[in-house]
Amino acid sequence: MAKVFASQRLPGDALERLGLHCELEVWPEPTPIPPGVLAERLQGCVGLVCLLTNRVGRDLLAACPDLRFVSSMSVGVDHVAVAALTERRIPLGNTPGVLADTTADLNMALLLAAARRIPEADRYVRDGCWKPERPWYPGMFVGKDISGATLGIVGLGEIGQAVARRARGFGMRLLGWTRSGRAVEGVESVSLEAVLAQSDFVSVNVALSKDTRMLIDAEAIAGMKPGAVLVNTARGGIVDEQALAQALQSGALFAAGIDVFEREPVLMDNPLLQLPNVVVAPHIGSASQRTREQMAALAVDNMIAALRGERMPHCVNPEVFD
Ligand code: GLV
Repeated sequence: MAKVFASQRLPGDALERLGLHCELEVWPEPTPIPPGVLAERLQGCVGLVCLLTNRVGRDLLAACPDLRFVSSMSVGVDHVAVAALTERRIPLGNTPGVLADTTADLNMALLLAAARRIPEADRYVRDGCWKPERPWYPGMFVGKDISGATLGIVGLGEIGQAVARRARGFGMRLLGWTRSGRAVEGVESVSLEAVLAQSDFVSVNVALSKDTRMLIDAEAIAGMKPGAVLVNTARGGIVDEQALAQALQSGALFAAGIDVFEREPVLMDNPLLQLPNVVVAPHIGSASQRTREQMAALAVDNMIAALRGERMPHCVNPEVFD
């Protein structure tokens, strides 16, 4: 039987299903498998089911000559050297279609929390600052209005469109920019510069690639509307964190909601963590029970199809099948 390695236990019963089709070994620890150990465990394996915390680079491929299929339980694949896989005709599976709504929910949660200063207010109450000597007053935790504000969406793929649907319900005007020039109903398509200059809220929803790395750099941040709020649930490498922190500290921007960081886990000396007007989360965009189980199921469906000699249902580099 073909050997497959899964770099972590997955939610639901997906791996049990996979185990019926191959000789499956699963990394038992909750922490990511160290890269050197991954290469060792992959010896003799034709398949790897991985997570976004596993770097699948040229070095790993070179060390694992038997590897023929890779399936990642993620929609983003910036942790994988896709070109190197394609050169070796290794299909790479991912998990689109199931996490857009869940991630868009978190996007809106961060947008609302940043606009209405929820974490600051939460700390204020818990720290006992709200007391008879300091009762309610009209200027207490005044934030930004959502309804009537302009939301600029950078990237109008599945998640960007799901954010647009939600924002419409909140009465926001929508601007959007996408590399493909895709038109989305109800979203006015403008240049990236116009999105940044005209939006009260900017939502980053593009995939990370060499074209989008540092797309929102210091110059782009300087071009944002004064007092705007930036939300990023896409990938850390898209936004210049130092420049963002400076803009938030100087008051040029009002607040930010950040679920993803250039380096994950984020380092405690990251300047964004020092700022009260930044709401953070540890890359939990797709973290709902149903969505995570669906992602695991799709990752396993991709691997089972590959083991049967079929095309993966969700393949990032389908040209390998031609
Ligand atoms: C999450 O960030 C994913 O790419 O699935």
